[in-house]
Amino acid sequence: MNSRMETPSMIPIALLALLGTVVLYLTYNVATIVYNVFFHPLRNYPGPWYTAASRVPYLIKVIKGDYLTWNQSLHRRYGQVVRVAPEELSFTDGRSWRDIYGHRSGGKVTFSKDRRFYFIGNPTHPETPILVMTDDQNHPRVRKVFNNAFSNSALQKQEPLFLEHVDRLLKAIEQKGPAKFDLVTLFHYITFDIMGELVFGEPLGLFDGNEYYRAWVKGLFSDIKASSIWRIGYYYPFFLRLLEFLVPKKLQEERLESFRLANARIDKRMAEQTNHPDIWSLSEREDKDGKPRLSVGEMHVNASGFMLAGTETSATVLSAMNYYLLKHPAKLKRLTDEISTSFTRTEDMTLERLAQLPYLAACIEESLRLFHPAPNGFGRFVPQGGATIAGHWVPEGTVVATEHNNTYRDPANFRRPDDFIPERWFDPAFNSDRKIAFEPFSYGPRNCIGKNLAYHELRLIEAKLLWSFDFHLQEESNDWLDQKAYMVWEKNPLMVTATPTKR
Ligand code: HEM
Repeated sequence: MNSRMETPSMIPIALLALLGTVVLYLTYNVATIVYNVFFHPLRNYPGPWYTAASRVPYLIKVIKGDYLTWNQSLHRRYGQVVRVAPEELSFTDGRSWRDIYGHRSGGKVTFSKDRRFYFIGNPTHPETPILVMTDDQNHPRVRKVFNNAFSNSALQKQEPLFLEHVDRLLKAIEQKGPAKFDLVTLFHYITFDIMGELVFGEPLGLFDGNEYYRAWVKGLFSDIKASSIWRIGYYYPFFLRLLEFLVPKKLQEERLESFRLANARIDKRMAEQTNHPDIWSLSEREDKDGKPRLSVGEMHVNASGFMLAGTETSATVLSAMNYYLLKHPAKLKRLTDEISTSFTRTEDMTLERLAQLPYLAACIEESLRLFHPAPNGFGRFVPQGGATIAGHWVPEGTVVATEHNNTYRDPANFRRPDDFIPERWFDPAFNSDRKIAFEPFSYGPRNCIGKNLAYHELRLIEAKLLWSFDFHLQEESNDWLDQKAYMVWEKNPLMVTATPTKR
């Protein structure tokens, strides 16, 4: 038979096969939607029908950076537990912290992490997870290595380093003179320089104009934003392959190279015998027989992980706190008065003494409440046998999360939830606030390892800033809070001018 004669009969067969596939695909999807809405074990949980039907509305909000506001509107409408996707429940009830993230007694297994929530890993060691993503079997081992490096005694040893960096920040602001500048960028510089010192054993030199690292810091943020898009691939794997194909090779290579350079810095630091009080000299990397507790890959990925977890977070809280204070002059005055009456000279501002200032502590809590740096909920899987969460029975395999920002802004938890009122943290007039709903560093065995470091860093930077300068918000940053949140906030520039205080 010649090929000309083959063609006409083959076309209908191919067409029929294609049509058949499309019909099968559509039938499967319709059947899934019907099952999800009417027969799924979560069918009786409150929420719109379309989130019960499909994960797509949820993912669209994530990609657009609108998940947070959308999730809040759902909670305001449906209450403290909402079905946000076919197999996912979102909570704003404070009791859910203990039930989802807490230690479980009586031999019950803890809720494992839904790794689809987290950003993509380190491309130099794709199979090695950072601490935040380590599985439950390996987590205690890796966490134990680093616990000491983030303890209070470690922080005391690191105090002189922090002071040096804060001085650099103050000098940089002084050099601006009357010109306006972006506080967000300077907060990134200081938090990255401090973390660079702790992770690489030397600062990144961001205040000294190190352009390579300035670009590196910027690159990390585009990575976080891009990771919202990559998340689709965790739910629809064909999309991941498409993305890998679409992202230019040059970009992928540059990203790989920046991780390789970070690894090289860690290798250099490991080759040095030093008492520099960074995380490596203060961690317990070897067991009692001198055997390493971590692989080289684990050291590399965790170094990069700390650079991300310990910088952006604190910089966000500092930015938000200064914005709120500038918008509330009476509260700013109360805080500056507390700082200037507690000290006669800036040299006396030690980590220990700053921890005793009640209004400073209250301003930090209030900023974390209103503008949490990682504002969405961190998903967990309900383990085998199901579990009761905040009084609701939830079947095994369901993804559950307590939202950060939306729990803290829920009127059922906090009175006047959208207002900046540091006084609520000590004034009996706010005794009705459900403080158990507030866990900005999470709860249980996977809570934040850097909590002490973060609080000390925030107190020191804020106190020294307000001791040294009066800040003035510029008009273009009047609506600074108006921004999108991906995994973290977009963070537009926070434009201010500064004049030295008269002391
Ligand atoms: C205001 C600042 C900070 C906030 C609000 C914050 C918040 C959090 C939260 C909510 C978690 C839990 C994530 C989860 O459930 O998966 C976490 C984990 C973590 N944070 Fe922080 N963090 C802050 C600063 C820091 C700093 C300064 C470091 C220092 C390196 C750090 C390192 C980590 C690490 C390594 C984990 C994973 C812990 C584990 O899985 O054992 N964070 N953080």
